[in-house]
Amino acid sequence: MTTQTIEAPRSAAAASRTTNWEKWGWLYMRASGVVLLVLIFGHLIVNMVLGGGVRQVDFAFVAGKWANPFWQWWDVAMLWLALIHGSNGMRTIVNDYISRPAVRKTLLACILGACIVLIVLGTLVCFTFNPCPVGAHAADLPSFCPAR
Ligand code: HEM
Repeated sequence: MTTQTIEAPRSAAAASRTTNWEKWGWLYMRASGVVLLVLIFGHLIVNMVLGGGVRQVDFAFVAGKWANPFWQWWDVAMLWLALIHGSNGMRTIVNDYISRPAVRKTLLACILGACIVLIVLGTLVCFTFNPCPVGAHAADLPSFCPAR
């Protein structure tokens, strides 16, 4: 009878062979969770509690916030961290519950595709948003635009 020695998972030889993506994903979920707590609750407090509360949120309020690079970067950081966090979490759930390889691969591809599309579109919106586009019909512009 032959016996086989299984290498300890944390041995130097096992660890140095490849990047442990699952470990980095696990760490990312914790680190992004902590940062998201600040970003999400900061977002909710500034938008819904301070100033005029929830009634203040309208087109002009959003336009005012996105005129300030601080809030553009806040929202983009929230978008990226939450989408990558949510997508990685969904990847874990799919890997845990879907055993058929073809279905699993399809779902993982859909999650990755949705994450990339939403990150690209959301980032473009945050950085290119212009409430008073030049050449727009005056009637379509909000009241605070000079061309109105
Ligand atoms: C308030 C900030 C948040 C904190 C502190 C947080 C924290 C965490 C942590 C620590 C995990 C890992 C759980 C585990 O491995 O057992 C996790 C998983 C997950 N999170 Fe978040 N999260 C936050 C926001 C979000 C948001 C905004 C989304 C959606 C976009 C999201 C979606 C998920 C998903 C889908 C999982 C996987 C659940 C699972 O493995 O069963 N989380 N979260």
